[in-house]
Amino acid sequence: MTIKTATFNGVATIEIARPEKKNALTVAMYQAMTNALAAAKADSAVRAVLITGQPGIFTSGNDIEDFMSRGTDGPGSGSEDHESPVFKFMRALLDCDKPVVAAVTGAAVGIGTTMLLHCDFVYVSDEARLAMPFVALGLVPEFASSLLVPQLMGHRKAAEKLLLGDPFTPEQAVECGIANAVLPASEVVNHARRIAERFNGLPPGAVREAKQLMRGPLHQQTLHTIRTEGEIFSRRLRSPEAMEAFQAFFQKRKPDFSKF
Ligand code: COA
Repeated sequence: MTIKTATFNGVATIEIARPEKKNALTVAMYQAMTNALAAAKADSAVRAVLITGQPGIFTSGNDIEDFMSRGTDGPGSGSEDHESPVFKFMRALLDCDKPVVAAVTGAAVGIGTTMLLHCDFVYVSDEARLAMPFVALGLVPEFASSLLVPQLMGHRKAAEKLLLGDPFTPEQAVECGIANAVLPASEVVNHARRIAERFNGLPPGAVREAKQLMRGPLHQQTLHTIRTEGEIFSRRLRSPEAMEAFQAFFQKRKPDFSKF
């Protein structure tokens, strides 16, 4: 099983559990997480959602083999039904009207970090490293990270993260506002769960409407950016630069971009 779900004491937990591949996310895993978010939204007993990973790894991002075999991962064209599984998952996350709490148990790469931009609370283990190495993979930032990361940390710091793909420490994630707090690795999930459980004592209608208001005017801009990024990302997935980067990853060598 690669996505484990459970609902207990008002909290729907989505646990990414594919440790042998560093929790890399496949199409089937995005679909399972989308279904879990829809179920959480529909269940009035659920007051908050908790997303977590495995000890030492939150997720290494999109499965690179999936990237190579599909060659397309864009928003899809036309109706929502034609959206790719990753877009459906991110749409479900953006549309989730209940608070979403992330417990970042370890490395969070690519979408592992960009999904955090759309959670309401983020707690990071002191062993976590966050990174958005899209450009090094021949790709571009996704899911509004090109909008939200510069907004959080300013253009120059964002250039280190988005253009160079420099990883950031848990402390830096808190400093720039991506995360709420750093916790010892052994405590991060329990702490995040306690935060999620606090919503059992709050009025769900007011929480829902307050969360909606907090999205504010930025929401439309976020959706627009996601679509624009998605079109470019999708095109770049098929680029020779990306193919070289993906092959280099599996061949455990440095990519060679000198010919481009
Ligand atoms: N997609 C597919 N397979 C992945 C993967 C991914 N995103 N991340 C890790 N794996 C696989 C590796 O190929 C390896 O498989 P193998 O045992 O069959 O060789 C296994 O998971 C263990 O990974 P490994 O790289 O040996 O672990 P590590 O502890 O040395 O490093 C990471 C962990 C997360 C730093 C490293 O795996 C990594 O950088 N992964 C890719 C991250 C990435 O670029 N994601 C896409 C962002 S858009």
